[in-house]
Amino acid sequence: MQSVGQRDREGGIGIAFSGFRGLGTLRMNGNHRTVLVTGGARGIGRACVEAFAAAGMRVVLNYRTSRAEACAVAEKFDGAVLPVEGDMSIEEDITRVFDTAEAEFGPVNILVNNAGILGRTRFPDLNGDAFLEMLRSNTVGPYRVARQFFLRLGEETGAVVNIGSMRAFLPSSVDYSASKAALHNMTVSLAKAMAPRVRVNAVAPGFTDTDMHAGNRERLEAEGAKALLGRYSAPEEIAEAVLFLVSDRARSITGQVLLADNGRSLV
Ligand SMILES: NC(=O)c1ccc[n+]([C@@H]2O[C@H](COP(=O)([O-])OP(=O)(O)OC[C@H]3O[C@@H](n4cnc5c(N)ncnc54)[C@H](OP(=O)(O)O)[C@@H]3O)[C@@H](O)[C@H]2O)c1
Repeated sequence: MQSVGQRDREGGIGIAFSGFRGLGTLRMNGNHRTVLVTGGARGIGRACVEAFAAAGMRVVLNYRTSRAEACAVAEKFDGAVLPVEGDMSIEEDITRVFDTAEAEFGPVNILVNNAGILGRTRFPDLNGDAFLEMLRSNTVGPYRVARQFFLRLGEETGAVVNIGSMRAFLPSSVDYSASKAALHNMTVSLAKAMAPRVRVNAVAPGFTDTDMHAGNRERLEAEGAKALLGRYSAPEEIAEAVLFLVSDRARSITGQVLLADNGRSLV
């Protein structure tokens, strides 16, 4: 078995996932060394940052408000994780994050579009402006980041994973579900637009134990119990799906949305 970051005969990077059960060693394209994870200080984003860093990659950890959490993650990885502040729905911030990433770590080859918000206002109280704000955060923001990623990639190859949601397939909050359904559809369109150099996929998590459910653990427990597998996910499990999709094991996969919801949407 290869050790972390060791090159194999084909020039790929062997990645051993310590603490990630069952995946064993994944191969990454040898040029794919720098990852940007948006919203990487907490929850699913943090789990992705830690998994990539543990695998020997350089990780740009974008955060918006969670500076202390971002710095705490960076401290664990001795220079391999670079925290960069920025609101990923704002074009100038996105430009600055990429400029900083490139100056410190070189070109970004892998993008995880994770940043997202969950609205609390339900129909019919939800007004059009709040709906637009949701689309700006969860759909247009990831589009802006993906566009910037592609423009800067030049002739290089790369991979993108968008974090969608099971709720895109179900009746749920009007604004959140619509924003994630649009993100899923955008994944398919971008896979075509960025081919053949960049694979673009999405992971659609079901109920996952993050701050998004802070204050409503009863709902998390109840929804987990309803799922076919009788459980909700840990953020690290979603990160495993993300790492699979950017690895060479998924080299024939593009334009797909991978549901990781413990079978909740089938109930
Ligand atoms: N938890 C679930 O059950 C679940 C299920 C399906 C999908 N998802 C999706 O998974 C993703 C991560 O959510 P999570 O559950 O890990 O929630 P979380 O713990 O609340 O984390 C959300 C993250 O998004 C960041 N963020 C939000 N808007 C941002 C912006 N404009 N620019 C930069 N960062 C921004 C936050 O950054 P700061 O803290 O720095 O502000 C935070 O790190 C989201 O896209 C969410 O929709 C979650």
